[in-house]
Amino acid sequence: MNTLNHLAIIMDGNGRWAKLNRLPRTAGHYKGVEVLRSITIYANSLGIKCLTVYAFSTENWKRSEDEVNYIMSLPKIFFASYIKELMENNVRVMIIGDRDRIPAETMKVIDDAIDTTKNNTGLILNFAFNYGGRDEIVQAAKAFAMDYAQGIRNDLNEETFKEYLYTRDLPEVDLLIRTGSEMRVSNFLLYQIAYSEFIVTDTLWPDFSNDELDRCIEEYQKRKRNFGGRDETKNH
Ligand code: IPE
Ligand code: IPE
Ligand code: MG
Repeated sequence: MNTLNHLAIIMDGNGRWAKLNRLPRTAGHYKGVEVLRSITIYANSLGIKCLTVYAFSTENWKRSEDEVNYIMSLPKIFFASYIKELMENNVRVMIIGDRDRIPAETMKVIDDAIDTTKNNTGLILNFAFNYGGRDEIVQAAKAFAMDYAQGIRNDLNEETFKEYLYTRDLPEVDLLIRTGSEMRVSNFLLYQIAYSEFIVTDTLWPDFSNDELDRCIEEYQKRKRNFGGRDETKNH
């Protein structure tokens, strides 16, 4: 049985879902938020320790101002509707990414949610928000260089480098699900997914469901994880 401590999801396909339903792109993002609420509560009930969701990438600023502004207003909508339920379910909110470019009002809403839920011990709902994997690695390298220059540490290796990443306190990513068919990583968790299992589904994020998460986990359970070692169940 493969352990599933950390599930990461690239929640893609909101725009295509909206187009298919003849709705504005923002309606796809709104529906996506409701799906996230349901998946969060369900993942918590399954005993998953951490759910990292890609909500906004460092490249998503290239979108129209209207769309970006709408996405920046979503944390307010999400937490205003669901903070009570997150508390009842012992869910703790975290964020990874570059906070600096996020509008102050949006950051305040997120920081309030982080603060309100900080003592919860159930699922960690970790938002990758203004997150880019390359940016994270560069920031980590800079932070290490500063510590090195100040004589704080000189022992750079794979393990110590992890302490400079946003994910320093989180378990290894076991499973990465991407909805919306695209076979790419789009700058998500580049360092962390070295040995994660991948599942790409054709379902667009606003149509993703608890049942489909069950099916993904079932598939994950069938995977033989080798971590570079030899698969001793095979005769070759
Ligand atoms: C993912 O859905 C949400 C964000 C990137 C914020 P998209 O908006 O990328 O949806 P598609 O890929 O255009 O369908
Ligand atoms: C990845 O989706 C980012 C998020 C889901 C937040 P994109 O829609 O931005 O990815 P590309 O542009 O198709 O690679
Ligand atoms: Mg997309």
